[in-house]
Amino acid sequence: MGNRTAGLSWAVLMQILLVVDNLQQTICGSVRFSIQEEQGPGVLVGSLSEHFPPPYQLLTEKYLWMDKKNGNLYTTEEKIDREALFPEDTKTEECIILHNSVVGPSGDLIQFSVIIEDINDNAPHFENSEIHLKISEDVSVGTSFLLDDQALDRDAGYNSEVYYQLEDSDGFFSLTVEDGSVIVLVVLTALDRETRDMYQMALVATDRGSGPLSATATLIVTVTDVNDNCPSFSPDSPRSVTIPGDSQMNMLVAQVRATDPDSGLNAAIVYSLSPKVSKRAKKLLSLDSLTGSIRLTQDLQSDSSEELLLKVLASGHHCPPADTQVTVSVLPKANQELAIKIGFIVEHRNETMVLPENQPPTVLAVLELEGDSSFKGSSVAIENKVHFTLNPQNGKYLLSTSEALDYEMKREHHIIVVVHGKSDKGSVITHSRRAIRVLVADVNDNAPIFLQSHYHVEVEENNQPGMSLLKILANDADSGYNGRVTYRMDKHTSSIFNTDPNTGQLSVSAILDREQQDAHKFTVFAQDSGSPPLESAATVSIQVLDRNDNAPIFLIPHYIFFIPENVPPFTLVGRVRVRDPDEGSNGNTEFHVVNSSGPFVVDNTLGTLRTTTKLDHETHNRYELYLLASDHGHPVALTSTARVTIFVEDINDNQPEVILPSSNSSCQTVSLATVTGTIVTKIFAIDADSGLNSEITYTVVDPDPVQNTSPFRVDSRSGNITVVQQLLQKDLGMHYLFILVSDGGKPASLYTTVWVNLLVNESVGPCHLDRKPTWSGTADLVQTPRKAPICEAVDTRSAKLTLLVGLGMMLVSTCCFLATAVLYLKQRRLSFHHKNGGHIEEKVISLSLKDKYY
Ligand SMILES: *[C@@H]1O[C@H](CO)[C@@H](O)[C@H](O)[C@H]1NC(C)=O
Ligand SMILES: *[C@@H]1O[C@H](CO)[C@@H](O)[C@H](O)[C@H]1NC(C)=O
Ligand SMILES: *[C@@H]1O[C@H](CO)[C@@H](O)[C@H](O)[C@H]1NC(C)=O
Ligand SMILES: *[C@@H]1O[C@H](CO)[C@@H](O)[C@H](O)[C@H]1NC(C)=O
Ligand SMILES: *[C@@H]1O[C@H](CO)[C@@H](O)[C@H](O)[C@H]1NC(C)=O
Repeated sequence: MGNRTAGLSWAVLMQILLVVDNLQQTICGSVRFSIQEEQGPGVLVGSLSEHFPPPYQLLTEKYLWMDKKNGNLYTTEEKIDREALFPEDTKTEECIILHNSVVGPSGDLIQFSVIIEDINDNAPHFENSEIHLKISEDVSVGTSFLLDDQALDRDAGYNSEVYYQLEDSDGFFSLTVEDGSVIVLVVLTALDRETRDMYQMALVATDRGSGPLSATATLIVTVTDVNDNCPSFSPDSPRSVTIPGDSQMNMLVAQVRATDPDSGLNAAIVYSLSPKVSKRAKKLLSLDSLTGSIRLTQDLQSDSSEELLLKVLASGHHCPPADTQVTVSVLPKANQELAIKIGFIVEHRNETMVLPENQPPTVLAVLELEGDSSFKGSSVAIENKVHFTLNPQNGKYLLSTSEALDYEMKREHHIIVVVHGKSDKGSVITHSRRAIRVLVADVNDNAPIFLQSHYHVEVEENNQPGMSLLKILANDADSGYNGRVTYRMDKHTSSIFNTDPNTGQLSVSAILDREQQDAHKFTVFAQDSGSPPLESAATVSIQVLDRNDNAPIFLIPHYIFFIPENVPPFTLVGRVRVRDPDEGSNGNTEFHVVNSSGPFVVDNTLGTLRTTTKLDHETHNRYELYLLASDHGHPVALTSTARVTIFVEDINDNQPEVILPSSNSSCQTVSLATVTGTIVTKIFAIDADSGLNSEITYTVVDPDPVQNTSPFRVDSRSGNITVVQQLLQKDLGMHYLFILVSDGGKPASLYTTVWVNLLVNESVGPCHLDRKPTWSGTADLVQTPRKAPICEAVDTRSAKLTLLVGLGMMLVSTCCFLATAVLYLKQRRLSFHHKNGGHIEEKVISLSLKDKYY
């Protein structure tokens, strides 16, 4: 038994070792198949038969089954979803399922891997279908907002790469994607909550897979209000109130009122008492922070008059508080034993006197004690002696002002008149007390005062007509009509600027052009409506800021320059100029050569055009190029182009080249019988230059000019060589004509020399030269030929021709002079604004024309 179990466990151990060995092999051998995810059933994945002998047995038939005979591997009904199989790791390129199989007659266990390839089966997905964004109406154009909501795509590779588009943005917003995945919303146009407070757009995320899939989220931008107003107290908010001395607790004393034109939270106002309010006032009065109502905190039992000053603050959101002062006058409790008779002198209504402000001391009333005997020995006095006096006069009392009253300081006075009597014991007792009310009437004694004596505003040109600039404000301490301020401005500025007479809102009614006028200055007036009205003035200066609204303009649309050939590189060809009336970098111009075929550069800032290489008239006598001038304006630079034509003028840089005779040793036989005047041969040379520089003159140079006996003559123009005298016996033999071939270049002509060899013989046969002739005359060839006698022998016919040619040339040069003059004048007019630029051109043209028809 023990033996058997030992043998069994030995076999098991061997098998395990084999399996482990096999496993090792398969993993190292790595049999791999690959299949796209989401395939239907029965799709062939691969076959094990290429790797292992039959039979085949798949251990776990999940997703795949295997044909036992041939080892083919097929998909099953169960679909393979890559993203479901590997939820954690969908982005990795290779998702692999490992399968085990037993193969071969000996039943080896092998492992193979199946790579699941990604297909674009997942659309991008937004976490939230609605994205809400709040943007304040005062954001500047170009501000960008980060959108946190990215779309996720569970596929891998291109199938998961997402790009974004914004739809229905109406040009107000655009989308940029930074660093591949950060979505940023950019404001393209200025927002105004009052015209549109909501934008609903579609944010579309699309993947880059084949058969791209997309998802859409709604992007809702809410434009939020900006708190651009602060609270201020209404003119009708009470400033002074009077309450009786026996008022009850909770009585409404007054209600202050401040307003803020903003809406919602921005318009919320909180009222509070200033810390400067006296303890007594705080004890008697309470202020409701929301409604602004001021109430009594207790029942009053006041025997004397009293004034409580309440400074009330109104605070708004992010605003400095506005303040007002309420004066609460407490009258003494009414006394029944009213015993004073009042005879009013000044205007009075219902027991209340009305006195205009600024009056010198005036008698107001006559007071008299009612004639009861019990009041004998009593006296009358007033309590508040600040502005008023009471003078006894024959048992009566004259109540008068002691100084001028100021409506702006205090509008209402209460004179407390007290009747003192003597008690039986002789002590003074107060019998009765009475308040006399004096109202001060306003007089127009205050002119409106501007908050600033000088206003300065900067405004960009090309503004919207009607644009608001600023609010000028003048305060008038008077009240009613006397304090009602209207605004106006200088008559002559009123066509450009406009002031609202009532609000003082200054606006610009025209479109400003900085290039026409960059600063405006005028005076504004504030006038009250009193009679006579009072007025004050302030100055307003307006600075117009530049915008890049002018493109640079070339002074001449087509420049023509002339430059001689062969000048060294970087020679100045000419200078172009532009005009850009804008300011700063908006008017700062830069030049570039565009699509030029020629070797020219332009200095970026100066506009000077220079050559880059030597120019050759003979290969290229004319260049065309375009110059681009662009300013440095923002946001767009403006440009213009000008055409430039450059003529390369000829310089005598090519010497004549002799074509005929072909060499110095060529030879021609001339018969002795040749008649006079016969053309025996011809010399011919060409010159690559043009004009005079290529006009060739042929001259025979005689080493010994005194003995000129040659029977041949060379025509200096045509090069024809003719027999000029009858050939005689003495002429037999070789004639060597040394011919100077020179061009007409100025100042120095170029030349070459050639030998023409003529053999005079009785019969004409082929000529042969034994030796090359050599020159024995002077080396200075150019001067001598001028004096050669041949040149002086001019016949009358050629003299006539010369005269005609001369006359023709004169005529041409006259025409040419006229043309130059016309061109010059035209050019001057063109370049009127820019003296220097024009000057160069006119010089270039006139000089070159002179040259051409020289
Ligand atoms: C006059 O004063 C009395 C008491 O103060 C008041 O009741 C009355 O309405 C006033 N009359 C006028 C016209 O103001
Ligand atoms: C050169 O540029 C000018 C201005 O941009 C253009 O009008 C012209 O057609 C161009 N010529 C060539 C040959 O490209
Ligand atoms: C030069 O000779 C040619 C013929 O060879 C003739 O046609 C021409 O008129 C001659 N020129 C002059 C100026 O004699
Ligand atoms: C002919 O000879 C002259 C003078 O010796 C020389 O300057 C010239 O170059 C020669 N011309 C040719 C074509 O050989
Ligand atoms: C020159 O003439 C003589 C006599 O007629 C003749 O013999 C000789 O060949 C001629 N020479 C040439 C070069 O024609």
